[in-house]
Amino acid sequence: MIAACLSCNHFTYTFIMEKAVPTMTPVADAKEGARKILLDNNRGGYTIPSPKLYPFQWNWDSGFIALGLSYFDKYKAFDEIRSMFKGQWSNGMLPHINFHHVDENYYPGPDVWGTKESPWSPQAPATSGITQPPVFGFILQMMAGRMSNDAEFIEFVKEIYPRLVHSHRYLYQNRDPFNEGLVYINHNWESGTDNSPLWDEALDSIDVTRARDVSALRRDLKSVDAGQRPTNENYKRYIYLVDLFKSCNYDDKKIFERCPFLIQDVLFNALLIRSNEALIQLALLIGEDASEIEEWNQKSIHTLNTKCWDEESGFYYDFDLNGNKKIPIKVSNGFMPLFAGACTAQQAEKLKDQLFTSFKNGNYLLCPSCAIDEPSFNPVKYWRGPVWINVNWMLYHGLKRYGFAEEARLVKQNSLELIEQTGFYEYFDPRPEIDQDHRGLGGNYFSWSAALYLDFTLNS
Ligand code: GLC
Repeated sequence: MIAACLSCNHFTYTFIMEKAVPTMTPVADAKEGARKILLDNNRGGYTIPSPKLYPFQWNWDSGFIALGLSYFDKYKAFDEIRSMFKGQWSNGMLPHINFHHVDENYYPGPDVWGTKESPWSPQAPATSGITQPPVFGFILQMMAGRMSNDAEFIEFVKEIYPRLVHSHRYLYQNRDPFNEGLVYINHNWESGTDNSPLWDEALDSIDVTRARDVSALRRDLKSVDAGQRPTNENYKRYIYLVDLFKSCNYDDKKIFERCPFLIQDVLFNALLIRSNEALIQLALLIGEDASEIEEWNQKSIHTLNTKCWDEESGFYYDFDLNGNKKIPIKVSNGFMPLFAGACTAQQAEKLKDQLFTSFKNGNYLLCPSCAIDEPSFNPVKYWRGPVWINVNWMLYHGLKRYGFAEEARLVKQNSLELIEQTGFYEYFDPRPEIDQDHRGLGGNYFSWSAALYLDFTLNS
């Protein structure tokens, strides 16, 4: 069993792993611990998110991981991104999982996805048939902040840039049916925030009597407590959607006509905007014309603010295309326009107020994935309350961008302390009063927690 436990004090802790793992001392060693996780989770060219739970290459994980790797091995960082783009489909879609190798310890694997039959999927590697939030633009731009004088880095940007633009063009051409600049996701797994209460209504509209019972096939419950994971009823619905996409041969037009899950998500679109902005900057670095991206971005920022912003409550909400209505649930996704630089100073002020009213726990500032005053808030359940490091890292950058220096400092400090005291978990109980040994949740030895710990300490 993989676990990390604190022994003695904040400065000495031991990771209990299948392999013998060294005991570490002070903060400098937490950095060493983070580096070690990224190296141990490397599978030759790419890095898995966490042993046991996630044995393949995941899309947005891979972006955060590449940023972490870039601090100590730029070639590994380049390979991480190259490996991700090996799975890119000919229509531009960057899949959410690349199955570079066979591993029976995960469900649903390549056979369930059946993407080989699709005219757009690559020969190899096998991939899933959906995407994840577009992070590679801003990841490359952040690397450029330190490497813009490095000729090998510039060559690398030139190699990846056209593929990245292709992946954004895929979204605008295939996922924006009204040409309004907001793209939809068709599965909760595309959101990255897989079990958020945002998806409940759309998932509930699926008739489970028509869905396969896959509870016996699940592998996640073998290593994580069921109380922290999605229910079996919901897993049926997830696989119902996969089966539907497969029956459409992954043709987005057919999927749009038949899919009960079509949602314009604030986090996904905010990260698209942030990555568009990054591509515009990278274009300057390598002498490309970015006018197409500028047009996309203006439209996206405009529609995010007209369709998803609610002036009365001062928050951003997802939009459900099937129900033709906002989804009025406050989750951490609503803060991501700060990271994207997509809101005005007045909107930013209102968002900061929300952070201090609906999302704050005592004197402690770390954003839970769901507002504490939402009925669906659950401090230990996957994306329904726990703290995620990537979300708080993006929030930190967003707060800083809008001049909330003290709030940003607190988010960073609390993120670092949480990891140093608890371990490199996938997610964490947001309640500071809970014993540190019990705050770490989900998988451990989690790569993006390690990668962003490095970025927090070495860059921000
Ligand atoms: C979970 C998360 C998702 C992540 C994946 C691999 O499914 O919800 O965001 O990409 O794990 O870490």
